[in-house]
Parts: sequence; C-alpha cells; structure tokens
Amino acid sequence: MTEEIEEHGVRINIKGTIQAPKKNEVMFNSEMILNRSVVICALAAYTESGHCTNDQVRCLDALGATGVAGLAWARQVPKASVVINDQLPAASQRIKENAASNNLQVEVTTEDVSVLLHQRPFDFVFLDCYGSSVPYLDAAFRNIPKHGILVVTSTDDAALYGKATDVTLRNYGGYVVKTSYAKELAARLVLASVVRAAAKCNKGIEVLCCVALKSFITVVVRVVRGPSAANKCVRKIRRIIHCCMCEDRAFYPETVYPIEQPYSLLSCLCRSKSRGKVAVELGPVWCDEIFDPCFCQDMLTHATNLHLSHKVISLLQTIVSEAGCKDYPSSDVSVDKENTLLEGHEDSTEVAEEEEEEEEDLHGQSYQSLSQSYQSLGQSYQSLEDTDIERSPKRLKVEQPVLRSPAFYFNLHRHSPKGHDLGKINKVVEQLRRAKYKASRTHFDPEAIRTNCSLDHFTTLLAEFSKAQKVTPN
Ligand SMILES: C[S@@+](CC[C@H](N)C(=O)[O-])C[C@H]1O[C@@H](n2cnc3c(N)ncnc32)[C@H](O)[C@@H]1O
Ligand SMILES: [Zn+2]
Repeated sequence: MTEEIEEHGVRINIKGTIQAPKKNEVMFNSEMILNRSVVICALAAYTESGHCTNDQVRCLDALGATGVAGLAWARQVPKASVVINDQLPAASQRIKENAASNNLQVEVTTEDVSVLLHQRPFDFVFLDCYGSSVPYLDAAFRNIPKHGILVVTSTDDAALYGKATDVTLRNYGGYVVKTSYAKELAARLVLASVVRAAAKCNKGIEVLCCVALKSFITVVVRVVRGPSAANKCVRKIRRIIHCCMCEDRAFYPETVYPIEQPYSLLSCLCRSKSRGKVAVELGPVWCDEIFDPCFCQDMLTHATNLHLSHKVISLLQTIVSEAGCKDYPSSDVSVDKENTLLEGHEDSTEVAEEEEEEEEDLHGQSYQSLSQSYQSLGQSYQSLEDTDIERSPKRLKVEQPVLRSPAFYFNLHRHSPKGHDLGKINKVVEQLRRAKYKASRTHFDPEAIRTNCSLDHFTTLLAEFSKAQKVTPN
C-alpha cells in the first residue's frame, strides 16, 4: 500500500514518513513545497544563465529524504543530471522506489553528505537541513566549481532568532536578539557562516537570493573562486549596533580604528533621552547585497514558465521588487548596478580567479589587517559597555554600506506614530519614493518597508503622510 502526493509533476510515496523524524524514519514535510519551488526556480535560472559550461548540470540533492526535490529537478529541468543522497538507508531505498515509479533516471547514494561533497564536484548543491546547515558548509565549498551554486536551507529557529544565544554563538559565531527585522538578520547570520566556510577554500560568494518564511531560511549563493574574492567577502562580515528602545540599527564600518562613539552610528536620540545602556551589538553578519535582481527576475520567469503556484509567483514578485528597491522615478534594476558594495566584483571575477595562486604572504597581510579590524571592533564593544560617553553625540560621519537594495526594513506598526492611520502600505512606499528614497515591500515581513531612509526621518515622514492623509482621504 502506498500513500502518494504529487508535487512538481512527480508522484511521491510518503507512506510512513514523518515531519519531525527522531531516528530511522524518512522525513517529509508538505509545507516545504514553497521552498522546493524556490529551489527549482533557482536551478532553472542557473542552467539557463550560461554560467555552467557543462552540457549537463551536475546537481546534488544532498539531503534527499524521499527525493521529492531532486526528482522534480529531473522531471522539470532538462539539463539537470541529478544525484540524490541520504545517509539513511530507508531514505535512499525510498528515493530509488520513487525514481523508478516515476520513470526518472537519477543516481541515488547513501553517503554521509560531507564525505560525498569531498569526493565529487557538483555544479548545483542543495543542502536542505533539518536544523542548522553549519556542519556541512566546509565540505560544500571543497569541490564546488567556479560559478557553481549552493542553496542552503536552515530551520534552526532557536539559534537564528535569538532564543538560544549559546547555540547562536557556537554555530554562527555571533549574537542576535529578537528584533522586528529578525528574518533578514537571521539570513545575514547564515550568510556570514557561508562566507567564512567559502573563504577557508579560497572562495568568495555572490548572494543571488534569500528567502525567509515562517518555517525556513534559504540562501542561494554563486561561488567566485580565488583568494581576492574570499578577502572581499570576509570584510563584509560586520557587527551591527541595535537600539533596544526604538530598534534603529546600523552596521559598524570597516575600520582598524576603534569607534569612539558607537551610539552616534544610529539616527535615533534614545541614548540622550534615557539613562543606562540602550543598545547592543549584534552579529557579526553579512553586510552586503542579499539579492541579485537579474537572477531573481530569472527565477520569477521560470516560476511562470513552470506554471508554479500563485503563492510562489507572488513571493518571487515581492523578492524582485525588493531586490531592485527603486526610488522615484523608477530606474531600470537591470542596469542599476553602480550602487552595490560589490562594485567591480563581477568585472574583477576573472582577475580574482586568476589570482587563485596568490602568494601565501599576501594572505598573511590581508588576514592581519582583518584581524586588526576585528580587534578594533572588540575595543569599540568595550567602549560601548564601559565608557561614560557624551549622551547626545553628533551623528558620526561614517559611510554606511551603500547598497542597491538597502539592508533591513521598518515594520509600520512598530514605527508609526501612535494613533496615526497610514492607509495602504503601497501608498507609503510610493510616498517614500516621491521623497527621493529607495523603497519597496519586503517578503520578510508583509507589514514592513525596505528603504534607505533613516529611522529618524522615516518616523517624521510617516507622521507627515498620516497628517496629509487626514486632510485628503480617499
Ligand atoms: C530535512 S530532511 C530533507 C528533506 C527533503 N529535502 C525534502 O524536501 O523533503 C534531511 C535529511 O537529511 C538526512 N541526513 C541527515 N544528516 C545527514 C548526513 N550527514 N548525510 C546525509 N544525509 C543526512 C536525513 O536522513 C534526512 O532525510
Ligand atoms: Zn533608538
């Protein structure tokens, strides 16, 4: 007797599977279909991107369970040559049965994923982790080729959302608390670990897409080979100062010098209005772009071509809009590349890759300056805790990363002035754009706006919009 479901054109026997396996059970979670849809779109976008020069794209569904993800790739993506792995014999047996009943040619292996990743190269690797992805990241970068894609799904909410700070520190080498921008913070925490793992193999990354919904966080990254790409990326792992009163936040700058007045990185004046410590340092996390607008647009196009659900298409539409995060009048995202921190990164990819054999002492130097900058961050942390600094510091003129898609977002309920009716969120986005700010919705939070407007100015503008709305309601 079988119990079948159909997903992405493949029938899967899920008999006896469970959502949260303890020992030798095969896992299946129907709620993760949205994630599997996103991954199939990423694979389709990659195979058509021209970045993989092989006729067949070597794809690994590394933690396969029933094989539901990898079998869909074999069905839907013609260029995919698929290996599905699960170290659990009951799972790999089920994958074989599901492949046979769907008449799909895939290779099934029963390996520890880290062993497999050390043995063979794959162009596209999906690590769908039950919990944290951290144990597999080093192996994932061992053999992945130039421009290869790694997709990592994490479900360790307690560590990623600041409910188990010891685990966060142990697994991600950082600190987070509950914030109103928690989902993106968690994605950036995962990305910092991904970057560190890549750097150990002299590789860097370009982040193509991030998705964080209720039950998972998925990051899609493209590998850029060479120590110089690795160096660039590790420098983009920075701490954040987070105001516990109003939730304003800012990245620490990349500097080897101590920050004298860290509170002045924030736009708010909470420090001058309240006694005691009002901020904490979060991270370190990835501080650069988390979307590639062209890749996200390609994912959306493939979602449409593959006739995926309205939910997937609407999710990807929101991601495309936040990846471009336009100002007013709208500029074309496909050519709006000049603002990214990775400026010149793509152009320098080839150079970076040629530098792969860069001399060891050069490494030594750059790591030294990096460690100096971490040392300085350590000192500034100290100063935040210990010194009795001036309580109304002037805003420090420190360059914040200038991103195509600004980091983080403001939740309207959290930040709108009490009693003010703001009307529709899309209208607020439009008003921010008219005020010459970048602004967009964000899939991380349906009630929030991604913008490069400072929190200080954002709340002022919200009050003005709200007043104007009262005068001219519609
Ligand atoms: C979250 S489930 C995968 C779910 C699947 N991708 C899906 O979409 O339904 C994780 C799977 O990884 C397998 N697994 C756990 N650790 C592993 C390891 N070190 N090597 C290989 N497989 C492993 C488990 O047996 C489990 O089936
Ligand atoms: Zn504040």
